Amino acid sequence: MIPQHFIDELLARTDIVEVINARVTLKKQGREYAACCPFHGEKTPSFFVTPAKQFYHCFGCGAHGTAITFLMEHDNLSFPEAVEELARLAGMEVPREHGAGERTEDHRPLYDALEAAAEHYARALRTSPEAVDYLKGRGLSGEIARDFRLGYAPDAWDGLLSVLTPRFEEKLLIEAGLAIRKEGGQTYDRFRARIMFPIRDTRSRVIGFGGRILGQGEPKYLNSPETPVFHKGQQLYGLYEARRTNTRLDRLLVVEGYMDVIALAQHGITHAVATLGTATTREHLERLFRAVPRLVFCFDGDAAGRKAAWRALEQALPVMRDGREAAFLFLPEGEDPDSLVRSAGADGFAALERDAQALTDAFLEGLRERFDDTTREGRARLGTEAARLLREMPEGLLKTQLVNDLARLCGLSPEQFSARTAPSGRPDVPPSGYRSSAPKERPSPRRLDITPVRLALSLLLAEPPLAGQVNDWAFLRGSPIPGAELLAQVIETLKNTPNLTTAALLERWRASDEGRFLLKLAQWRPPRGDDAAPARMLNDAISRLRGMHDEQRATALLEKAARESLSDAEKQELKRLLAARNGADGGGESGS
Ligand code: GTP
Ligand code: MN
Repeated sequence: MIPQHFIDELLARTDIVEVINARVTLKKQGREYAACCPFHGEKTPSFFVTPAKQFYHCFGCGAHGTAITFLMEHDNLSFPEAVEELARLAGMEVPREHGAGERTEDHRPLYDALEAAAEHYARALRTSPEAVDYLKGRGLSGEIARDFRLGYAPDAWDGLLSVLTPRFEEKLLIEAGLAIRKEGGQTYDRFRARIMFPIRDTRSRVIGFGGRILGQGEPKYLNSPETPVFHKGQQLYGLYEARRTNTRLDRLLVVEGYMDVIALAQHGITHAVATLGTATTREHLERLFRAVPRLVFCFDGDAAGRKAAWRALEQALPVMRDGREAAFLFLPEGEDPDSLVRSAGADGFAALERDAQALTDAFLEGLRERFDDTTREGRARLGTEAARLLREMPEGLLKTQLVNDLARLCGLSPEQFSARTAPSGRPDVPPSGYRSSAPKERPSPRRLDITPVRLALSLLLAEPPLAGQVNDWAFLRGSPIPGAELLAQVIETLKNTPNLTTAALLERWRASDEGRFLLKLAQWRPPRGDDAAPARMLNDAISRLRGMHDEQRATALLEKAARESLSDAEKQELKRLLAARNGADGGGESGS
């Protein structure tokens, strides 16, 4: 856990313009900076950075957030990693809080053991002619072996153990997935007689291994088990290497095997990644799309490959916001990317990649394969299934196009069809969170009804110091007016920590529905000119809320009085509320 006060301080010392400008060239435009959005392809800039709020926003794809969010999305970092990176730039050290009951384990010993293992395996490869011959036989150069830190685990039960102990305890090596303890208590190496593929995270740390048997044998591949630092459903082999080799990575090729990634790299195709023997998960896709806007999935051309492609497509639809692209490359039967690049060469392979089938086409074709579109009943079932899948898709041009195509196919109007694909969810908050909107549907508060709560929140986000002037706000706590509770929390936070920036304020609600709502409101720009105007607007909004609150309270008390008797305190309160109401109705002269 990173303490909140540190995040506040860090964001106060960080300049988002500097952080983003180091990655995307920004151009000053009035009080903001503009650029072509790094999160979706575009030719005219719709990506804006507002230094006053320490906040960025793209009107094209809806991406927005703080400097932390930017690093997470752009550099594919986790939250703690993004904080670490900003801290490094600011010359600060990240303190860690050990919260009550919180398990904040230090994984450094695990990383150290895995690193030592990778070194050991790489050293063993250099002195194992049979392993070197195997790799040479598969067309790999020493250079590629070095880039991927390939290694070898010789055929022994304690090859690694004997080298790593006692520097590392057996218990730690078992936890790292490098060794196994037998029933009887004896410990032995997990990987034996295998070519070793170290799996690195985006910070270059070894987190696990894949191991391939030399020649024939079972199992052909052995992976590290799940450990505290290795999660197969999230990691992608080759992502670190692809990002290191390509300064400007604009697409990734998703293949099945370690050897595919490496053989492609050997032929100069350095943007391939592989899942670790698992199907592509939602986490994989999120991670991949945070790194690049275009993915090309490679699958076998046979029935099994088609089926796997459909599963990947189902996983991909919910993350296909505008600006993202996915395509499918079906390989000739009996080929994998490794064999294909060796026979067709880099150019041949690149041509296939260019011709990959677009997700929209694969979607329509897949549906036609599954349902009979020559009968009304078949088309109805096709439409129902398509609508179910599209419901999960974020709103945008891509979805609109698919809706139009499918409506035509089912003989419906686009309106009739899209009525079945509207996402369910809270109308205030876009269903897929921080970013999901079509260019024509800018997520702007101007499109929202400006309720007093939203207005007050927008003003506070635009100018946090305004909170200092708010006095009568305790009634917001526990008020049934939607958003009143959140407004109370924001006011209280700002009163307790007066120098908070907008970005630091937003970070407190990271990844919650409230946070998404606040992010949306943070895009609002207060009117320019009159310096006193925002303060006046804020006070007006809060007194209107006070009026609404009093009105609701009076109604509730009157209803209660009709059923049962009120307590003395309630009677007093009602009297006061009614007097205030009559006073307000009875003429403007009593207003203060
Ligand atoms: P080569 O035969 O070395 O070319 O490997 P390949 O990548 O062509 O192998 P294959 O297509 O059989 O497997 C693709 C991926 O599936 C591998 O890279 C592994 O991640 C995984 N895999 C294959 N065989 C096994 C296995 O026996 N056990 C496990 N756990 N994973 C496997
Ligand atoms: Mn292969």
